[in-house]
Amino acid sequence: MKKTLLIALTLTTTVTIASTSTVDPEQSRQLLVDYFKKKHPDIKFENYKLGAYNYSADKYSQWEAVEDFPPYLDAIDIGEELYYKDQDIYEKCFGNDIEQVRVKYPLFNNTTNQVETLENEINKCRTKAGLQPFGWEKGKIAQLSAFYAYNSRDKKINVQIISEGDKKAFLDGQQFYTQPRGQFNLSCAKCHTYNSGKKVRANLLSPNIGHTSHFPVFRGKWQNLGTLHRRYRGCQKNMRATPFKPQSETYRNLEFFQAYMSNGIEIDGPGYRE
Ligand code: HEC
Repeated sequence: MKKTLLIALTLTTTVTIASTSTVDPEQSRQLLVDYFKKKHPDIKFENYKLGAYNYSADKYSQWEAVEDFPPYLDAIDIGEELYYKDQDIYEKCFGNDIEQVRVKYPLFNNTTNQVETLENEINKCRTKAGLQPFGWEKGKIAQLSAFYAYNSRDKKINVQIISEGDKKAFLDGQQFYTQPRGQFNLSCAKCHTYNSGKKVRANLLSPNIGHTSHFPVFRGKWQNLGTLHRRYRGCQKNMRATPFKPQSETYRNLEFFQAYMSNGIEIDGPGYRE
């Protein structure tokens, strides 16, 4: 990404969305929904699963054409094979209704006192059963996750925040999202909230709402399937900030926050993005 454009983005005026611990998560989510409603009155709430394709009819029709023969179909098939190969093990960890797995995560586990994500739990499950864990960002982890996502399609994201632990994880994720960092002093919010719909070079910036709905994603740029945390790392590198490890506590809390902010949006994974 070009330096000048990144710097230009840091100079645009911002609106302050509540980001302090005095705001409760539901109030924070409602503020964001209202903010986007005002900013883009023509976008229907359910269409936030389309990300940046909401902002360009041309790009949307290109996306629709790709979705006719999506490049992620093979990955779902491989994910299915992986699932049936060790079905007993996965059933022990996630239950035997494959439609209910993707939609359960992320969640805050009050016993372990941390956010659990689907990918982290898949590898924990494998390790517990004496199997090798998968790599974290692409390949088998993304393929199995794609299989689960595909089976939860059309179910709505529904992250619950009840306990103090839930709230703390949410606030930690929210703080990470809004805090400027890196060489350009950019925050995620700068691009994906305040400047969503605007262009950075050839890219239209997607909105925060719906960010987690369609992962794992097959990207044209990657030519394969990747997880949400792979995307987080990519954005942090573009911000000239040091990325965290996939499934680090920071990224798990960020996912928890972003998923909560996307409550009510349909799961649409795996997805395609350019
Ligand atoms: C300089 C602007 C910029 C910043 C800052 C930035 N991103 Fe991005 N991000 C992009 C661009 C450009 C894309 C690709 C177009 C799009 O989908 O928004 C993208 C894509 C994404 C996507 C994929 C969206 C989709 O529909 O698949 C996610 C998720 C994401 N960013 C999260 C983050 C998070 C979390 C942060 C903070 C750590 C962050 N980004 C910081 C520019 C930025």
